[in-house]
Amino acid sequence: MKKYNIAVIPGDGIGPEVIEAGRMVLDEVSKKRDFKIEWIEYDLGANRYLKTGEILPDSVLEELKKVDAIYLGAIGDPRVKPGILEKGLLLKLRFSLDQYINLRPIVLYEGVETPLKNKTHEDIDFVVVRENTEGLYLGIGGFFKKGTKDEVAIQEMLNTRKGVERVIRYAFELTRKRNKKKRLTLVDKANVLTYAHDLWERVFYEVGEEYPDIEKDHAYVDACCMWFVKNPEWFDVIVTCNMFGDIITDLGAVIQGGMGVAAGGNINPEGVSMFEPIHGSAPKYAGTGKANPIATILAGKMLLDEIGEEEAGRVVEEAVKKALKSGKIKSMDAGKMGITTLEVGELISSLISG
Ligand code: IPM
Ligand code: MN
Repeated sequence: MKKYNIAVIPGDGIGPEVIEAGRMVLDEVSKKRDFKIEWIEYDLGANRYLKTGEILPDSVLEELKKVDAIYLGAIGDPRVKPGILEKGLLLKLRFSLDQYINLRPIVLYEGVETPLKNKTHEDIDFVVVRENTEGLYLGIGGFFKKGTKDEVAIQEMLNTRKGVERVIRYAFELTRKRNKKKRLTLVDKANVLTYAHDLWERVFYEVGEEYPDIEKDHAYVDACCMWFVKNPEWFDVIVTCNMFGDIITDLGAVIQGGMGVAAGGNINPEGVSMFEPIHGSAPKYAGTGKANPIATILAGKMLLDEIGEEEAGRVVEEAVKKALKSGKIKSMDAGKMGITTLEVGELISSLISG
């Protein structure tokens, strides 16, 4: 029987609960599809940091480089100053494991409500490919005369030819593989960021020549936000830089029914990838059983796709679709589901075991 070593980082807040539901579903589908998941648990996050001062020890990082994939709940705790765990754990993992793709599907499933008037599941089905290892996220910069009236703060946006090219190429390949509208939209701000995003545009059209079957489309990021609301049906695949990808995928999450259903993958196509719900740790719901695990379960589906168990991934997605259509989950919002986090996991597991 095929066996996969999956590292699991439940993390903070609602992380452990949504991960428990996600693991339940993945274990269920593994039985059905005849493979085994060996879970290797890591207690990284706020508690460990507050107890020991450790965020991501080198020894752990070395171990994580050897697993088949990582399943992450959520990171963040009100007792820890914002930025410490985000940078020290989440971003450090993305960078150290060179997970240069942040893949975020924006899909409105049937039975899920969108705040967009007159839009249905037929209109909202696209994927954002967010660059995940460069841009404004590297923390290059500094202060000068900090705390004085003359203070200067600089934060650099780094773009490498290699980094831009590999994410754009991935996006073209994905657009071809999806085989839907066959349209790739580059989202940037080349009218203002005339160096950084000039590079993006040049690479986009240059690489695009190798993909004559794919329509090349372009939108400035501000206009893109408008189109997300007005005409989401226009999009098929979007490729964009780290910062813009961060921002537009929260908007994307809202139009697909909320943070409760939005999943993401930090992917290194040649290495170890990490899958997570894109919501945060929601400390106020921690331990209440009120958090929606659907995003985590769909992140699990993406994990299965990446390790080569696409059929299992499809089974999970079908079960999620059925659960959403069943009306048994009253709302996608935490606290309003009408059933508990684990009950959602059980419902989806039962739809898998049939
Ligand atoms: C996300 C999050 C992270 C990001 C934070 C927590 C560092 O917002 O995954 O979208 O900005 O990438
Ligand atoms: Mn974000």
